[in-house]
Amino acid sequence: MKNIRPITDESRPKVYIETYGCQMNVNDSEVILSILQDHGYALTEDISRADVILANTCSIRDNAEQRIWGRIDQFRLQKERRKDVIIGIVGCMAERLKDKLLDSHIVDLVAGPDSYRSLPDMIAAVTPDSPQMNVLLSREETYADITPVRMDRNGVSAYISIMRGCNNVCSYCIVPYTRGVERSRDPRTIVKEAVDLYSNGYKEVNLLGQNVDSYLWKDSESADRDVNFAQLLEMVAKISPDLRVRFSTSHPKDISDEVIYTMAMYDNICRHIHLPVQSGSNAMLEKMRRKYTREWYLERVRKIRSVMPDCGLTTDIIAGFCGETEQDHRDTLSLMEEAAFDAAFMFQYSERPGTLAARNYPDDVPPEVKTARLNEIIALQGRLSRQSNEKDVGKRFKVLVEGVSKKNSGELFGRASNNKVCVFPSGGHETGDYVEVEVVSCTSATLIARLV
Ligand code: SAH
Ligand code: SF4
Ligand code: F3S
Repeated sequence: MKNIRPITDESRPKVYIETYGCQMNVNDSEVILSILQDHGYALTEDISRADVILANTCSIRDNAEQRIWGRIDQFRLQKERRKDVIIGIVGCMAERLKDKLLDSHIVDLVAGPDSYRSLPDMIAAVTPDSPQMNVLLSREETYADITPVRMDRNGVSAYISIMRGCNNVCSYCIVPYTRGVERSRDPRTIVKEAVDLYSNGYKEVNLLGQNVDSYLWKDSESADRDVNFAQLLEMVAKISPDLRVRFSTSHPKDISDEVIYTMAMYDNICRHIHLPVQSGSNAMLEKMRRKYTREWYLERVRKIRSVMPDCGLTTDIIAGFCGETEQDHRDTLSLMEEAAFDAAFMFQYSERPGTLAARNYPDDVPPEVKTARLNEIIALQGRLSRQSNEKDVGKRFKVLVEGVSKKNSGELFGRASNNKVCVFPSGGHETGDYVEVEVVSCTSATLIARLV
């Protein structure tokens, strides 16, 4: 079996990797490390000892990019101390900004999300006068044959990318430009990766894609053997009842009844759906090109809740999109109440150059209005999360232990199937164990439980 853990051999040249952005970027960094380890590199967590420094970057909002510019400025210090150190910017910001990143004269290497196989050659070719760049996007690359080297600390839960790219053109979103067209990965390689993780002691896999519901593997011989997302979920769930399966992200326009019923059939498919709504206003949803309405969204929520009353439901919300009126904003608040989300990621709209929205609609909601609306959304979600957690007091959950609580070394933490974090006394249990707990109290972010 392939080594899935970082090599820390002192005699090897060392790479340091910093990761920004979404779960898919975290998994991409593991793919990058796998490729580099196969070419003789070892991982270091000490930037001052690295021969190669890589930042795997995100472009989703302007503040994500600003943070990385700040980091590039700090990498300058490493370069001043050690002339030979190679600084590489990879990932979505590399794809978006391309040679503009080289103008900084700090960056030696720019590599987009589909070019990671060429990293060893690019690193070898870097000289002070010849920075290297590969930002070609691919229609086929899925890194299906590469076994990611796991950089998580606990060895319990791992990401598996099941597809790359995105074919939706949500008008605000940069992802289709940085990640290219959607392509699904061969299901046999996905199942094999999950089986290998399970035999290495992992207890949970998280299947990743920008829109997992449009996963489709086309069989070369017969359409009868095509594999859709519901079928893939089932294939992974069947590996072992002790291996939990999670997935993200579902798109409200595509999540099918078949997926919902498949979830309900298997206890080890976690009862949690991340279903980004973005806005509760039909006018905004139309302008965002989300291809569903408020009513459609709420119908999907009802379907999920009727089949799985205990299913956790989380979302993403954008405040202050182009032309958003006070009434549009009110519609978002009322949808949040109706859907009663358990948790949400909430953002102010950030205009991304080159997107449909940037080309067609003025970014006309004043910054202070965006901030006020976002704050209102955050406050409401705080109340909804607390209410949702209060409903769980007295309930029993099976929790997968992920580690020791940061606040109290006598306590452990882990997630219930519905994705809520539980904290409870350790009672001799260890990371990777399944334990049965009963919730005794809560905050808006955590369930506090006892062992049963
Ligand atoms: N593929 C996922 C989302 C990926 S990006 C989906 O379609 O649901 C994660 C979240 O970032 C999005 O759901 C959206 O809420 C937010 N986001 C994307 N572009 C943004 C922008 N330009 N400004 C603010 N938030 C944005
Ligand atoms: Fe972006 Fe929309 Fe694709 Fe999600 S589905 S990655 S929001 S374009
Ligand atoms: Fe992910 Fe950010 Fe790219 S959210 S897909 S790393 S733009």
